[in-house]
Amino acid sequence: MADYRIHEHPILLVEERPMFGFTWQGQAMEAHEGETIASALFANGVRIFGHHHKDSSPQGIFCANGQCSQCLVMADGLPVKSCMTLVQPGVRVEPLDGKPALPDVKGVPQLRPIETVEVECLVIGGGPAGLSAAIELGKAGVRTLIVDDKHRLGGKLVLQTHKFFGSIDACYAGTRGIDIATQLEQEVRQFENVQVWLNTAALSVFSDRKVGVLREGHYVVVQPHILLVATGAREKSLAFKGNTLPGVYGAGAFQTLVNRDLVRPTERLFIVGGGNVGLIAGYHALQAGIQVVGLCEALPECSGYKVHKDKLARLGVPIYLSHTVLNADGEQEVESVTIAQIDENWRPIPGTEKSFKCDTILVAVGLDPVDEFVHKAREFGLPVFAAGDAEEIAEASAAMFTGRIRGLEIARSLGRDVGEIPQEWHVTAEVLKSRPGAVVTEDIPEMEEGVFPVLHCSQEIPCNPCISVCRQGCIIIEGEDIRGLPEYVGEGCTGCAQCVAVCPGLAITLVDYRKDPEHPVVTIPYEFSAGTIHKGDVVTVLDTEGTVLGDVKVVQVQTPKFADRAFLVRVRVPREYARRIAGVRVQEPAVAEPLERYVERMAGDEIICRCERVTAGEIRALIRSGVRDMNQIKAATRAGMGACGGKTCANLIKRLFREEGIPLEQVAENTRRPLFIEVPLGAFAGVVTGEALAEESPVVHATDAHEGGL
Ligand code: FES
Repeated sequence: MADYRIHEHPILLVEERPMFGFTWQGQAMEAHEGETIASALFANGVRIFGHHHKDSSPQGIFCANGQCSQCLVMADGLPVKSCMTLVQPGVRVEPLDGKPALPDVKGVPQLRPIETVEVECLVIGGGPAGLSAAIELGKAGVRTLIVDDKHRLGGKLVLQTHKFFGSIDACYAGTRGIDIATQLEQEVRQFENVQVWLNTAALSVFSDRKVGVLREGHYVVVQPHILLVATGAREKSLAFKGNTLPGVYGAGAFQTLVNRDLVRPTERLFIVGGGNVGLIAGYHALQAGIQVVGLCEALPECSGYKVHKDKLARLGVPIYLSHTVLNADGEQEVESVTIAQIDENWRPIPGTEKSFKCDTILVAVGLDPVDEFVHKAREFGLPVFAAGDAEEIAEASAAMFTGRIRGLEIARSLGRDVGEIPQEWHVTAEVLKSRPGAVVTEDIPEMEEGVFPVLHCSQEIPCNPCISVCRQGCIIIEGEDIRGLPEYVGEGCTGCAQCVAVCPGLAITLVDYRKDPEHPVVTIPYEFSAGTIHKGDVVTVLDTEGTVLGDVKVVQVQTPKFADRAFLVRVRVPREYARRIAGVRVQEPAVAEPLERYVERMAGDEIICRCERVTAGEIRALIRSGVRDMNQIKAATRAGMGACGGKTCANLIKRLFREEGIPLEQVAENTRRPLFIEVPLGAFAGVVTGEALAEESPVVHATDAHEGGL
């Protein structure tokens, strides 16, 4: 039986979990307890989940986050989002080929009363912003309810195996996202006045200022005094030929499969987009033993942190700047990707096309705030705050800070005496949100004696754990601003390697000339599985940009506790290039070789609306005919009318307007109506779907409640 699970990971604990059987198209398969249907299918080698009703095109996942509705399958006869539905023992899963038939209704269904719950603050989203806000609300004694559509708290933090940037004091810098999620959850759970509803999707804000939620399949009305929207972000889509083939999906979806569900969904992947999300996804793929064939970025430079880009380049991943993706190719799923260099007008330059064999293409071209709840709440006069990516796309460290601030602001507006919000919190939040600065020339020390760190950090980003952990005070940042570049200020280094271990960018090495000045020992951070490196191995070392410096011998591999699951690899090297070494290559260059000839996809299937399979050509024709209202486009083509409610195509349609030279001020956007998430109609009537009828009371207060039933 195919096994695409991760059995060994350098950072994540791979626990034994109970397994049980389910079927896919009548074929017996095994699933882990607590995994989604999508992950269970991927773990069994299934990547095509159905075929579209319009043109029978194969369908797979895109967001793995409940946003796009691409992953629908039939489970025991009912259509479900496979990325959001936990697999149950014995469930019969079938592909959704065409449209699902309505289920048989035998007689009048049993109905239960719809519960109404009154809370002081409803927090939508249990990620970094929502949890941080809830902690402040908990401290202030505010009756708070957090709803989250996942089966565990943490939001995107549970996907982040890397160490965080920022400062240790303010936002857990140097700690891995997965561990921050655990810490925040433990803190939230201490407050009796903060209730948590998992597996609960917020559906909409209504004109009576109530919020409808679907809790474990039951419709519940929540009546908050104040709403906090901490719903995070959704990934942007991209139009190119073959863009909906199974195997083309978001980088966040990939991280969900790999880091949350420990599934290896691909053997060879290509990444489109050089922001932090794409760069980090590439690193996570390598950690999971997946080959990363390359990354392309349309801009002349990656927009993500340079340390993330350098890390990938050093590990052996080619980065193609000023390149765009032309097409994904394959009959039923991705078999290759073709990219080309672009000119200053963003047009592909003929003759620069390159194709790579791969089975997966990650789209990492940016994020959009999930802010529809904010707009609806404002429209209907429900007091509302937003935090984290729902307010402004930034790093998770910034989200935690804005969450804290919003928590206090809400407590204050509810009349709690929480004092003044410290001014420095606002300053820190802005610092953490800041874009990376310009890249400067790397400052490599001149000296060749003693022991000292080399800081391969040449871009101003908000980060300072290296100065916090240096007990000798040898590393400083001039001034108060943590965005400054760290410097080694001579003498005093004892070679403890704490700075090497804590640097989230893996951008510090330690060079030790004390034993043999001609052959110093260089300490390099290494976050791959133990079996991939041993004392005595010969490894290829590279400089910051990924230029090969030589092959050298490993003299020691250590895992000190302070390195938090990272290895400190010591290599003995020639003096000439010791100070330039920044990393060890893990992926052989042959992996990233392009195909001999580039692959041109003939089908003109640049899809804008995935749900209704509307092409770019159809929408362009309408724009060229003078249409300036997206509602008209929707009426004429059905673009935006599908199951996802226009969440994935709206941006692409706006982009087409821009490409056609139409300023967006002249374009009327789609009218957003409740609901924002698909719900079976029976849920609003309280249809009981098999479980016992629970005792209900019409209005219940969160303070009287326990998790599992207010
Ligand atoms: S992949 Fe499941 S909703 Fe997007």
